[in-house]
Amino acid sequence: MPLYKTIVLNSSTKILVWEITESYQELFEAVVLNENSLNRLNGMKSEIHQRAFLSVRKLFKEVGYTDFDLYYDEFGKPHLNDGKHISITHSHQFSAIILSDEVVGIDIELQREKIIRIADKFAETEFSFLNPEEKTEYIRKLTVIWGSKEAVFKIRNEKGISFKDHIKVNVFEMSNKHTKTELHFDGIIRDFNICFEEFGSYDKNGLEQNFTLVYALE
Ligand SMILES: CC(C)(COP(=O)(O)OP(=O)(O)OC[C@H]1O[C@@H](n2cnc3c(N)ncnc32)[C@H](O)[C@@H]1OP(=O)(O)O)[C@@H](O)C(=O)NCCC(=O)NCCS
Repeated sequence: MPLYKTIVLNSSTKILVWEITESYQELFEAVVLNENSLNRLNGMKSEIHQRAFLSVRKLFKEVGYTDFDLYYDEFGKPHLNDGKHISITHSHQFSAIILSDEVVGIDIELQREKIIRIADKFAETEFSFLNPEEKTEYIRKLTVIWGSKEAVFKIRNEKGISFKDHIKVNVFEMSNKHTKTELHFDGIIRDFNICFEEFGSYDKNGLEQNFTLVYALE
């Protein structure tokens, strides 16, 4: 499948989502890779990870970039040579990039019941507006909270940031599709706008799965 979704947020900010249905070979033949990426690809243990990595290069192509326009810093954060900001995510059969003149972060998460068990590891103030008794909505909201924190972390991946203690997601309704998040770190409070949306797909066994796409702008 080619491009699954494009979201144009404003004149400089764009999100592209790929649904990975191609084989490893098909993807590999469709992109060019620099030496660093070839080494990374060869070192990946799972084919799902390899296909996700390659599908991101297909997304680059959609916006006129190649792998040669990108480099990673020592923390693994991707940067574009032309100075535009980029963030990358992949989860199961989806991958996505966000491109902008502003600093941005993106995350895709599969909605899973398992998130309930680990909620107290990444959430705290957010429990004031969550209702565990409404199980489906609880899972959906926890997934937004987790994705928001990952997206903010991708913008400011400073050593010592704790999802639970330093990143706070404001109250939101699923229907609003946006919220705000504060990062309290090093004596400074930074504000982020968060947008999210959900979409469904089927796994290789035909089971329905729901995903949450979250992106953050500082
Ligand atoms: C780095 C991290 C944000 C990646 O997120 P993830 O959900 O595992 O994986 P995703 O697919 O969404 O994102 C992977 C992409 O993030 C990007 N990335 C990796 N490190 C990054 C960093 N330090 N800063 C920004 N982006 C980064 C890369 O582009 C990577 O994909 P690529 O290497 O194929 O290009 C995550 O592993 C992490 O370290 N999170 C913080 C851990 C934490 O504090 N957890 C709290 C537990 S309670």
